Amino acid sequence: MMIQWLFHRISPVFSIITILAAGTTAIQAQDPAEFFRANCTSCHTIGGGRLTGPDLKNVTQKKDRAWLVQFLQSPQGMMDKGDPYALQLKAEARDVVMPTINGMTPALAESLLTMIEAESKLPKSQFAGLQISDRPFTPQDVEQGKEIFMGHRRLANGGPPCVTCHTFRGIGGFGGGRLGPDLSKVYERLGGRKAMGAWLFAPATPTMNFIFKSSALKSEEILPLLALFNSTAKAGGEDDHADTAGFFATGFVVAVVLLLLAGAIWRSRFRGVRGPIVDASARKVLGGRS
Ligand code: HEC
Ligand code: HEC
Repeated sequence: MMIQWLFHRISPVFSIITILAAGTTAIQAQDPAEFFRANCTSCHTIGGGRLTGPDLKNVTQKKDRAWLVQFLQSPQGMMDKGDPYALQLKAEARDVVMPTINGMTPALAESLLTMIEAESKLPKSQFAGLQISDRPFTPQDVEQGKEIFMGHRRLANGGPPCVTCHTFRGIGGFGGGRLGPDLSKVYERLGGRKAMGAWLFAPATPTMNFIFKSSALKSEEILPLLALFNSTAKAGGEDDHADTAGFFATGFVVAVVLLLLAGAIWRSRFRGVRGPIVDASARKVLGGRS
């Protein structure tokens, strides 16, 4: 009991270290595929059909690049100009206008379009969208979900194990982290298989988004996790007392603070550590040669 008490006291510290580690990689990453995953997959697939926005497969063959680069800078601007192609897209999207995406420079737009072009040529793009089968969950799925949750099975894209921050009823052992909400009944809260699957694929809350935007869960991982949470929700019993609003508020503050911290650490890591190391080895190499 004493050890368990101690674990619960210190587990938030581990969680924060985990977020920091994840955050530093997230900030370093500005490769177009990761940017796309974080900012575009909630509305677009490449070859997986329309979501809120059109399927982007072969979009560069439908419309010239100069136009697309301009559109990406300011979708609303294109509408305001009365551009007929833009207005047609808008009508097809039931009048939803694409938001202006933060940080969208012409160079980034170009690199995104190049990436979309390359992904369009693949038999199946990594952005074909979430394809979770409809087959019934099996006890093996639940077992696998537990292994993934506990971190006994590593996440393919390198995200931290859920148990660092979450717990669920019947987890056993030390019971999991407390930084995030208890997930026993989350399957019902988030609206079941399809809705929760989409949520896990692109989490929309601050801490979760921060951690998983550059290390998204794969559909082979999401299915077993859904099976696990389906079983814990079905198990019934007393309420799990998850104060989602409270966690949301805390999560938001934590994410903002960590984002700032991670930025500072990242910057000083490059200036403070990597710079001198590179300099030193360069000097060594040059020195050795001369
Ligand atoms: C909130 C939903 C949403 C997000 C997020 C979003 N888009 Fe869109 N996008 C749309 C909609 C809707 C349209 C159709 C035009 C309109 O109605 O504004 C569109 C149109 C486009 C088009 C033109 C498609 C065509 O057929 O010519 C491109 C290219 C595009 N988006 C790329 C992106 C990229 C790249 C990102 C991420 C940086 C992104 N979008 C993020 C909703 C979104
Ligand atoms: C570093 C801590 C951390 C890790 C690791 C983590 N989460 Fe979370 N999670 C949170 C926090 C904090 C929240 C509360 C909302 C927010 O701030 O994002 C949350 C919210 C959630 C929610 C929404 C809960 C609700 O009631 O709406 C789900 C579902 C979830 N996490 C699933 C997972 C899964 C599955 C994993 C492992 C693959 C995972 N989380 C890993 C911290 C974490």
